[in-house]
Amino acid sequence: MDFEQSYSEYKRVIDEHLKRALLDGEPDLLYEPVRYILFAGGKRLRPVLLLLACELLGGNPFTALNAAIAVEIFHNFTLVHDDIMDKADMRRGIETIHKKWDLNTAILSGDVMFAIAYRFLTKLEVKRFNEIVDAFTKAAIEVCEGQALDLKLETSFDVGIDDYIEMISKKTASLIKHSVKIGALIADADEGEIQAIESYGLNLGLAFQLQDDLLDVVAGEDFGKSIGGDIVNGKRTFLLLRALQRAEGKEREILLRVFNRDGVDSSLVPLVRDIYYYYGVIDETQEMVKLYTDIAINSIRVLPENNAKDMLIWLANKLCERKI
Ligand code: IPE
Ligand code: IPE
Ligand code: MG
Ligand code: MG
Ligand code: MG
Repeated sequence: MDFEQSYSEYKRVIDEHLKRALLDGEPDLLYEPVRYILFAGGKRLRPVLLLLACELLGGNPFTALNAAIAVEIFHNFTLVHDDIMDKADMRRGIETIHKKWDLNTAILSGDVMFAIAYRFLTKLEVKRFNEIVDAFTKAAIEVCEGQALDLKLETSFDVGIDDYIEMISKKTASLIKHSVKIGALIADADEGEIQAIESYGLNLGLAFQLQDDLLDVVAGEDFGKSIGGDIVNGKRTFLLLRALQRAEGKEREILLRVFNRDGVDSSLVPLVRDIYYYYGVIDETQEMVKLYTDIAINSIRVLPENNAKDMLIWLANKLCERKI
């Protein structure tokens, strides 16, 4: 099977469905930014995972399409508000909504995306509808909790790796976990199958955020986001926390400036990157990504063998090498 081609095919179906649904909303002030961000690219990871989980467990992915669209639109809402919180100017290679328009426009466009996501979700006509709405709502609440923890940690000084893992479990892994769970519920999977796929989603989500934090430091131009944003914001990433456990002398002083958010701007990013390399933190983050990816893959060993499963395994490995 050509996995790459297959992924593009899933993506194409999702994009077509999104386009049909969203192009003609008015007023423009509200919907133009929605269309602008939604069609600016994006990997469509969460909807593809949802469809694959459904297929893996014997469901028809076409019946899951509205749920897939719902998670993608919800994800885009979180990005728009996240970029406000993170003061980020670039996303998907273009200006963020609050930068290109203004703050109010970004808040409102995000809000309407949240509502539109529910509109798609409730179009589902499946047996376990209530459980699906519960799973979606749980993800939405946990993303907010995770984002609140992210902000709280930004100004906290007593932060351990366990705090970081808790924070990313909620802000990132929860939506990925619940996306595959929703796919499984649409397939009417049994309890054991749901647990297995949830563990896949959770661990893949942890790997995904660790890789995102890594890319913030080492990505190239094609990343589409400003490099070093986490350093400038003093984000408590795995890289910063681990480096602080190791660094001494002058290097430690620099990291403490980042940690204390003491007048750090983007000119300091190359130096911090060198410190991360020097203390082996870049390699170790890569190892952590691989570790969680392997746990994710092992979680679904118990599930039936089919093309969708092969693709979920391929995708998990592929994400370890992603550059965007
Ligand atoms: C970005 O998500 C936000 C994180 C959870 C790190 P993606 O990397 O999936 O963003 P797009 O949708 O592909 O742009
Ligand atoms: C994002 O984490 C998590 C969300 C819930 C959106 P980041 O703040 O690291 O995501 P990016 O790097 O801006 O995409
Ligand atoms: Mg951000
Ligand atoms: Mg953020
Ligand atoms: Mg990031």
